[in-house]
Amino acid sequence: MSDVAELKVNNQTYQLPVTKGTEDEVAVDIQKLRAESKVITLDPGFGNTGSCESGITFIDGEKGILRYRGIPIEQLAEKSTFVETAYLLIYGKLPNETELSDFKNGLTRHSLIHEDMLHFYDGYPSTAHPMAILSSMVCSLSAYYPDSLDPSDPEQVARLIPRVLSKIRTIASYSFKKSIGQPVIYPKNSLDYCANFLYMMFAVPSEAFEVDEDIVKAVNMLLILHADHEQNCSTSTVRLVGSSDANLFASIAAGICALWGPKHGGANQAVVEMLAEIEKNDGDVRKALERAKDKDDPFRLMGFGHRVYKNYDPRARVIKGSCDKILAKTGQTDPLLDIARRLEEAALEDPYFRDRKLYPNVDFYSGVIYRAIGIPTNMFTVMFALGRLPGWIAHWKEMVDSKNYRIGRPRQIYTGNNETNYVPLSQRT
Ligand code: CMC
Repeated sequence: MSDVAELKVNNQTYQLPVTKGTEDEVAVDIQKLRAESKVITLDPGFGNTGSCESGITFIDGEKGILRYRGIPIEQLAEKSTFVETAYLLIYGKLPNETELSDFKNGLTRHSLIHEDMLHFYDGYPSTAHPMAILSSMVCSLSAYYPDSLDPSDPEQVARLIPRVLSKIRTIASYSFKKSIGQPVIYPKNSLDYCANFLYMMFAVPSEAFEVDEDIVKAVNMLLILHADHEQNCSTSTVRLVGSSDANLFASIAAGICALWGPKHGGANQAVVEMLAEIEKNDGDVRKALERAKDKDDPFRLMGFGHRVYKNYDPRARVIKGSCDKILAKTGQTDPLLDIARRLEEAALEDPYFRDRKLYPNVDFYSGVIYRAIGIPTNMFTVMFALGRLPGWIAHWKEMVDSKNYRIGRPRQIYTGNNETNYVPLSQRT
């Protein structure tokens, strides 16, 4: 194959370099196109635009493949822990024993937040969405750690990574405790990352709390499955904000806000709300399908469809396979799981969904497990944020380590007025 593409525009032919990834993905490099031709490319939603080269995560949406640093997601979900996977994403390799132990120690050492930050919680209304609290608290961390804000200083970055990874878990669990009027539970150094999170979420000072190892395993699995997904909306946001050399806390806070939307991470909350609505309507899944197909109705089947996957989302497959096991473990049944299965079955038989290659995505079944564990619905997207954090950090680090990154600054095609004179107020109609 030629390593040059030709573009003919305004009767001129331009030669554009062609670049290839390690999995043979091909891209036409247009970096110099405007300088040479005054022409830009137009791609709203960036469905066809590569914003960077990256060695972190590979997705083949047609085949339903997802790998972190080359390792299939199914292997990591079964055999790894969230902390080990975070190391893999951020540092590019599986840690050896010393590296893992040092990494874990760093997370343990940085698990507290400054006591003054506890007062922040009192300022939020009790109805505040935990994503609003999480994003603002993470941004506020930058006020407390001025010694780790410079992205160009590797020592500061090294301090920053365990700080943000560890403290976000504390912030998230405190926001839950505050929302239900319970005292916050300080982290316990003897517990691993996920066990410590569950402890801070569900322990109370008045009695002993045993962390259930099967539930810890389920949380590890869910966080691993969410840990990275290459240039998705929130990760691209983190890269874009970080490209201005804003600090990592600010960049992550922006990523949390991007994740909140129901087309992105907010879908996990929206799925359970949709399933509950179907349950209220006698469990009739057909009405939801009809609404989702109606172009005059903004309703979409939440947890279905994906920009990249045109096949079953491999993360959804793993989560769906674990639902029964976790419900059995917690001794529960969940009518919403039955509705979700019937909804999936009906959608996959429907030509609308088949023709558009719309399959369940990661958010379709995750809520069933979160409910079984006792995580409230409005905390689901916070769980997604905890999981996605290593991916955000890995992409930010990859970018700042690359040294040759430029500020993210797309162009546009202007479609507004041509030059128009200012009209004084008295002469306006
Ligand atoms: N229900 C009904 N129709 C849908 C859906 C859906 N969930 N998703 C896509 N479509 C239709 C869409 O209307 C369009 O139809 P047409 O070609 O007739 O105009 C076609 O499928 C292509 O959709 P699109 O909007 O061009 O696709 P996109 O790549 O821009 O959007 C998406 C991807 C995930 C935002 C979208 O599928 C969606 O809104 N899904 C529901 C929300 C959701 O579950 N989001 C979580 C995504 S996975 C977790 C994450 O990474 O955040």
